[in-house]
Amino acid sequence: MSFADPRTRCDRTPAWQRLHAHYDAAGRGFDLRAAFERDARRFARFSQQAPHVFADLSKNLIDAATEALLLQLARECGLEAYRDAMFAGAPINSTEQRAVMHWLLRKPASAQSGQAPAATDTIANGLREVHATLDAMLQLAERVRADEAITDIVNIGIGGSDLGPAMAVKALDDLRHPGKRLHFVSNVDGMELGSLLRQLRPASTLFLIASKTFTTLETMTNAHAAREWFLAQGGSQDGLVRHFYALTTNLEAAAQFGIATTLGFWDWVGGRYSLWSAIGLPIAIAIGAQGFRDLLAGAHAMDEHFRTAPLEANLPVRLALLDLWYRNFHGFASRSMAPYSHGLRRLPAYLQQLEMESNGKGVDAHGDPLPYATAPVVWGEPGTNGQHAFFQMIHQGPDTVPVEFIALRAGGRDLGRQHPRLVANALAQARALMMGRPYEQDGHRRFTGNRPSTFLLLERLDPASLGALIALYEHRVFASGALWGINSFDQWGVELGKTIARDLEPRLATGDIQGLDASTAGLLRRLAPMI
Ligand code: F6P
Repeated sequence: MSFADPRTRCDRTPAWQRLHAHYDAAGRGFDLRAAFERDARRFARFSQQAPHVFADLSKNLIDAATEALLLQLARECGLEAYRDAMFAGAPINSTEQRAVMHWLLRKPASAQSGQAPAATDTIANGLREVHATLDAMLQLAERVRADEAITDIVNIGIGGSDLGPAMAVKALDDLRHPGKRLHFVSNVDGMELGSLLRQLRPASTLFLIASKTFTTLETMTNAHAAREWFLAQGGSQDGLVRHFYALTTNLEAAAQFGIATTLGFWDWVGGRYSLWSAIGLPIAIAIGAQGFRDLLAGAHAMDEHFRTAPLEANLPVRLALLDLWYRNFHGFASRSMAPYSHGLRRLPAYLQQLEMESNGKGVDAHGDPLPYATAPVVWGEPGTNGQHAFFQMIHQGPDTVPVEFIALRAGGRDLGRQHPRLVANALAQARALMMGRPYEQDGHRRFTGNRPSTFLLLERLDPASLGALIALYEHRVFASGALWGINSFDQWGVELGKTIARDLEPRLATGDIQGLDASTAGLLRRLAPMI
């Protein structure tokens, strides 16, 4: 499978040069407060309703001229053709020769293709397999929900086989089956699994071994440890079959492990894009089949928005263009995520993998070094906790850190008046960052203001809104990766450390330092022998 990449790298377009000139003339000294005074329509111009998500971009350091140039850049880069290639099932993950079709997992069985004729068969066949697996998975989820003997479900997985489901299960906790507790174990540090297993009994526990490859060191180590615990606690070999399920593309390895119940998926689902696949089983157990279908429907609505909306009204594209403007012109190195929602407390961790594993690349899709920065560091904590920790730096530190607020119009099941208080704080922070208190005499109490933020508003945290929100981030990452000219779907950067760890582990027992650098050798000498 070969793929003719339709993109032009962003720095090779005329718009890139024009953006540099625009930045020097108007971008560097841009003042948000003056921009609102100049343009009475600024809020309307820079806010929009996308499926399930209302976005206010007006407190960002752009004006109509900036956005027009950024949109021109997107067109000159070939973003639309590249997006269409993904939706046509082309192998855009060029280093692994794979299609990128996580969006197909959200497409209703009845959907008209809407794709190019050549791709129709692949997509139609894929869609049939997707729905056969989805139906089986949701039936399995309902069986687990109905089984009163099972009270604890332990998902063992890491990276994309942990972060997405863990984040979504926490987000939708108000809808969780009251008789099921969901646990997520990812770290190879035995403390995580050990402290959980001390609270559980084999007869009431179901283990989900979640791994696309079924070879990942952390997951396989924890899976074997869980199996030993199960047998040591009196579980039988027969019981293993009932208490261990696998979620993987590697059906053979799961069978070798001794697992009889396996849900599969496909190599065109990247790990960090896999919560919509069998990897989503813990979500379906938590919220039920209909809830999971609603999650998919919300994401599909965002897919359609991204696929069809003109670029100037396309929310993932507008957000990606802002990311590029801040990273490559203003030179902002990070973005802070501030979900004012306890349910979304794991969203920053989830986005760290999605954004930085996808776009933290230093070469373009052809392997040539890039002369500009790519993914910003994404970090954050839920509000209001972050206010009492690092917001000091965001308000008064010398670096500008764009903040992304997320708030809900309707809160969850809170106990009283908490929700308006939470939302007022989100609004207040965004306003304080922009307005500042620049005329304060005392330097310690002075706030320069003019600090940018984006505000995303969901009606409520239900499966459909969550699905749309996650798909919004997936497509934003796609769009910024497209502009930067990179392959957002591989992750070679995680390989070297894995290889070195395999070499070092036996040396920790023997103390062998041959061939090591002085620092690693010095540390190893202090650690060995380690049994
Ligand atoms: O180490 C990176 C990675 O390959 C991620 O991309 C992936 O989500 C994670 O490991 C887990 O992989 P698997 O699902 O194959 O266990």
